Amino acid sequence: MTKFADIKGFVFDLDGVITDTSILHGNAWHQLADSLDITWSTKLGNALKGISRMDSLEMILKAGGKANDFSDAEKEKLATQKNTNYIAEVNKMTPANILPGMKDFLDGLRANGYQLSLASASKNAPRVLDKLELADYFPKVVDPASLTHGKPDPEIYTKGAALLNLKPEQCIGVEDAAAGVAAINAAGETSVGIGDATELAAADMVFSNTAAVTLANIKAKLDN
Ligand code: G6P
Ligand code: MG
Repeated sequence: MTKFADIKGFVFDLDGVITDTSILHGNAWHQLADSLDITWSTKLGNALKGISRMDSLEMILKAGGKANDFSDAEKEKLATQKNTNYIAEVNKMTPANILPGMKDFLDGLRANGYQLSLASASKNAPRVLDKLELADYFPKVVDPASLTHGKPDPEIYTKGAALLNLKPEQCIGVEDAAAGVAAINAAGETSVGIGDATELAAADMVFSNTAAVTLANIKAKLDN
């Protein structure tokens, strides 16, 4: 396994890692599902984490047995409707919405000379970073519009390392979603999962919450 001393950069997911937007995404999709008479479940909500906007919509329609009920134009409209509701919630965000410990973790990474990039599938990521006043921490953001494949494909994490001019083995990827952990692993980076240990069993290490994600804890797991 990779040694802590080899690590030079961190590639971050955003939703559910730096801030709790995963709840806002879930609420906005739940609202849309209700309006389409599609039964919502926590399991469906979790499966959507890390999944792009249109792929999320497809998964919801499929779960409700409505995969073939809408034209592409209608699907675009539904996705826009969800996004409008989501943005209204994002616009209310402040730095208080940064998840516990994450600001200290980011400050510590910067102070120790690590490079940071963002690998979020969200086209709203720059707006969210702005609201959290964290845009300065992430001068390198992978543009999700440039991707051919979404998570669990490694592309977004491969690009996240390339933006830092680092090899994948020199990077740690940080994720809350199973699809994201799979993407980090497939990119050849070290995966840090935040959340349920069973759900994120594929990660190189799992922390149950963001407050537990510290450089010291990561070092201890890598060098033990
Ligand atoms: C992240 C979230 C997903 C969301 C995706 C696209 O990966 O975890 O829940 O669907 O971004 O977000 P967007 O803001 O572009 O709709
Ligand atoms: Mg996430």
